Amino acid sequence: MHPLSLDEVCTFEPNAAGKPDQLVEKMLEWMPPFVIAHRQGVASSLTGVEGIMICVPLLPQQILGLNTDFVLDKIVEAGELAEKNGVDIIGLGAFTSVVGNRGKKIAERLSLPVTTGNSYTAFSAVEALKMSAKKMKLELPETTAVVVGATGSIGAVCAQILAPQVKKIILAGRQISPPLLRLKELIGPNAEVTEDTSAALDQAKLILSATNAIGPVIETAKLLPGTIMCDVARPRDVATRVSSRRDVLVIEGGVIKLPGQPELVTDYRVDLGMPDFLTFACEAETILLTMDERFESFSLGRTIPLEKVNIIAEIADRHGFELAGLRNFGEDITRADIRRVRRTARFRRIREKLKNSSKSGWAKAKAKAGKAKDRAGKSRRSA
Ligand SMILES: NC(=O)c1ccc[n+]([C@@H]2O[C@H](COP(=O)([O-])OP(=O)(O)OC[C@H]3O[C@@H](n4cnc5c(N)ncnc54)[C@H](OP(=O)(O)O)[C@@H]3O)[C@@H](O)[C@H]2O)c1
Repeated sequence: MHPLSLDEVCTFEPNAAGKPDQLVEKMLEWMPPFVIAHRQGVASSLTGVEGIMICVPLLPQQILGLNTDFVLDKIVEAGELAEKNGVDIIGLGAFTSVVGNRGKKIAERLSLPVTTGNSYTAFSAVEALKMSAKKMKLELPETTAVVVGATGSIGAVCAQILAPQVKKIILAGRQISPPLLRLKELIGPNAEVTEDTSAALDQAKLILSATNAIGPVIETAKLLPGTIMCDVARPRDVATRVSSRRDVLVIEGGVIKLPGQPELVTDYRVDLGMPDFLTFACEAETILLTMDERFESFSLGRTIPLEKVNIIAEIADRHGFELAGLRNFGEDITRADIRRVRRTARFRRIREKLKNSSKSGWAKAKAKAGKAKDRAGKSRRSA
C-alpha cells in the first residue's frame, strides 16, 4: 500500500503535519518502505492465513511523476522486505500496481509471485454495480453503461464482463487509441468508443470508473437522475460534489468482507476508511491465493483474461468472501438511502419534463403569436 494523500502521510509520520507539501514529498522520497500493519484472523471454513501490510511511502503523483526506475526500485525494496518476513505471495495495492507494466517489471525482479489483485477487483466492482442496479430497479438489458478508463487493466476486463448484460456499453478513453478500438472489436456490436467522457456520462445510467488519474475525473453535474456510479479508483475518480447529489447513487467498487475475525494490528493510525473486517479487493485477492495455496503471479500486466476473473470468483465463493454490501465515502448505503435516491430522481425527472414541456409550450405560443402578427401586418397592408 501507499499513502493516497498528504493527510494520510500524517497517520504514520505525525511530524509531517503543518510542513510544506514539497518538504513532505522530499521526506517521503528518502523514507524506506516499512511494515505498517499485520493482518490477522482471516479464516474460512477451510483454512486461515495472516500477512503483513508494507507501506511504500510515496504519493500517487510521485509514483506516476518521479523517475520510473527510482519508483520501481522502491517497490522492489518493499517486495524484498516482504520476502525477508517469510511471506508466500506479494499483492500490489493501488498505484504500486500501475507502474512497471502493471506489476510485470516488479515480478521479474522478485523471487516470490506477485499479483495486482485486479481480477478480483474487476469481479467485485461489476458485482457491486449489479447489486445496485437491482436495488434501484434498473433493468440492465435496457440500460446504457459507460466504463471510464476503459483501456486500463481493470476497466477493460470490467467492460467485457458488463457488455453482454447491458443494452449498450460506451468505452471512454483519453483518446480513440488502438487498444480502445481493439476492445470495442473484442466486445462486439453493442460497444461504442469515445474520448468525450462527459458527453458519454450524460447518456448512461450505469457508470464504472477505474482510471489512474491523481484527481477526480468525474466532476460533471450533468448526470441523468437515477444514475449509478461505481468508483473503483484510489484515489477516487468521482468528485465529492457529484457524490453528494441526492438523485445519484455513488458506490465504492472493490470492497470485500473477509471471513473469520479479521484484525489489522498496527502501531500507526492506519485508516483504510473501513472497519477491519472489510478490505480492498486487491488485498482480498492476495489473501485468497494464499488460502488456496495458489502461489503464482495471478493478475499481472494490462490484460486480465476473463478466465482469471472466473477462477478468483470461484475461489472467493469457496472461502466465503463476499461483497461488503454497498458503500460510499466509508459509510454503508442503507435501504433508506436507496429509497431517497430513487424518490429524488423521480422528482427531478418530473421537474425536467415539466420544464421542457413548458419551454416547448412557450416556444409554440411565441411562434403562433409571431404568425398572427405577420398575418395582421399583411392584412393591414392589403387594406
Ligand atoms: N478498489 C480496489 O481494490 C482497487 C484495486 C486495484 C486498483 N485500484 C485502483 O483502480 C484504478 C485503476 O487501476 P488499473 O490497474 O486498472 O490502472 P491502469 O491499468 O493504469 O489503467 C488506468 C486507465 O485510466 C486511464 N486514465 C487516466 N487518466 C484518465 C482520465 N483523466 N480520463 C480517462 N481515463 C484516464 C488510463 O488511460 P491511458 O491509457 O490513456 O493512460 C488507463 O487506461 C487505480 O486508481 C487503482 O488505484 C483499486
